[in-house]
Amino acid sequence: MQTETNKKHDPAGWRSVPASTTELSRDRIEKLLSEEWEKFEKTYPQSGEHNKRASKVLPLGVTSSFQHWDPFPISIVSAKGAYLKDVDGRKLLDLSMGFGAMLAGHLNPTVVKSVKKTLRNTGTLFVTPSPIATEAAERFQKRFGLDMLRFTNSGTESTMYAIRTARAVTGKKAIVKIEGGYHGGYDPLQVSVKPDLADIGPSDAPVPQIPFDVEPGEVFTVPYNDASRLREIFSQHDNRIACFVIEPVVENLSIILPDQGYLTEVRELCDEFGVALIFDEVKTGLTAGVAGAAKKVGVQPDLICLAKSIGGGLPVAAFGGKQKYMDAVVDGRMAHFGTYNGNPLVMAAAIAVDEIATPAALERAEEINKATLAKIDAIILEYELPAHTIGFGVKGAVIWSRTPVRNYRDFKQTDFEAAELAWLWGVNRGVLTPPGLDEQWLVSLAHKQADMDLLVESFRALAQALRA
Ligand SMILES: Cc1ncc(COP(=O)(O)O)c(C=O)c1O
Repeated sequence: MQTETNKKHDPAGWRSVPASTTELSRDRIEKLLSEEWEKFEKTYPQSGEHNKRASKVLPLGVTSSFQHWDPFPISIVSAKGAYLKDVDGRKLLDLSMGFGAMLAGHLNPTVVKSVKKTLRNTGTLFVTPSPIATEAAERFQKRFGLDMLRFTNSGTESTMYAIRTARAVTGKKAIVKIEGGYHGGYDPLQVSVKPDLADIGPSDAPVPQIPFDVEPGEVFTVPYNDASRLREIFSQHDNRIACFVIEPVVENLSIILPDQGYLTEVRELCDEFGVALIFDEVKTGLTAGVAGAAKKVGVQPDLICLAKSIGGGLPVAAFGGKQKYMDAVVDGRMAHFGTYNGNPLVMAAAIAVDEIATPAALERAEEINKATLAKIDAIILEYELPAHTIGFGVKGAVIWSRTPVRNYRDFKQTDFEAAELAWLWGVNRGVLTPPGLDEQWLVSLAHKQADMDLLVESFRALAQALRA
């Protein structure tokens, strides 16, 4: 029988939950955490010094608060392929890869060549139409099966403009988003981003949590993987709801896979109630597969938001989709402007990424990811760790939970202390996964199995330490 916790996930994803596990000793975790934090400060002294200098001019010493952690983050001077060099001169395996934006690998030769050519022969900004932007648009139109698209400079802009397009076309204003979901800095999307459970009511009737500094308009929140709650919200308020914004695979809460059939139901509900379906593929995109998560799970949204992986590390993003929606940009119902949109430099990078992100290249990286997940899985089984592996496309993670995580409230029940230790353990051994415990690793086109085996061996050593 399928219960809430053993529901099948979409077959495009990877999830392996061990049948039997043994508790971790809390004392042991705390002891290791304290030893590892001490070791961290000794291992990265120049990063500490750099943070002191940077904190005098940049709040927290960083250019985006995501980059910060206590006591200080690691400062990087350069990067190539799958590796970073820090201010202490250490070489670190990068598994964060710019939160997935560096799918192509750092300083990918094809991207560098294309950008250099543009700097030499083309120019950096015309604010006029240009064949290079049209070529990039044609490539993404074809790749993602979009009727039309527009370029922006960030994921935040893409989700904002997609929502405004949905409002212009539906003539309605309210939005529905996933509880716990992150979609960039636009005000309505700040609602219930990783809220305290005490602030959001019961799971079957979530209450939106609104930070003081945002003016969100009318926003409803629903748990991920809960089509019945979505139906309820749609039925009660459909005359006001313009769109449903969702990451098809949630990649801001580690990785949460859609239950089998969930996204198809979502598509049907949006059609039934005249609500625009917006897939935020800022994190999935090319890391999910050649045409994103939509193609991989076989559900087409009305509008899609792209960023990160499409730009080879340069700030390029896009929103696009069905003609009915993009007509609002054509006729001006939704005003879309931007000085730097589609500038030649970022278009050159995007064209290069389109060239190198071939089915064969992405499949190779996905195979490495699967092999890595399988190796870590074997360690989890051997040491009976209360954890499981999860993966989608070229991304993977270990979730410190004995049961599958299907939504934000499940995610909040996972063992954050063990997750912090696992992350810090890697950091102290030169294996850098993303700083937030809600992120995942990325196998870029530059990573080889030997690189990923460094993660596997560091995880094995952690398992041994936990059971010592
Ligand atoms: C799913 C998702 N949407 C939107 C954004 C915002 O993108 P950006 O940081 O480029 O504004 C992010 C950023 O991490 C994201 O993860």
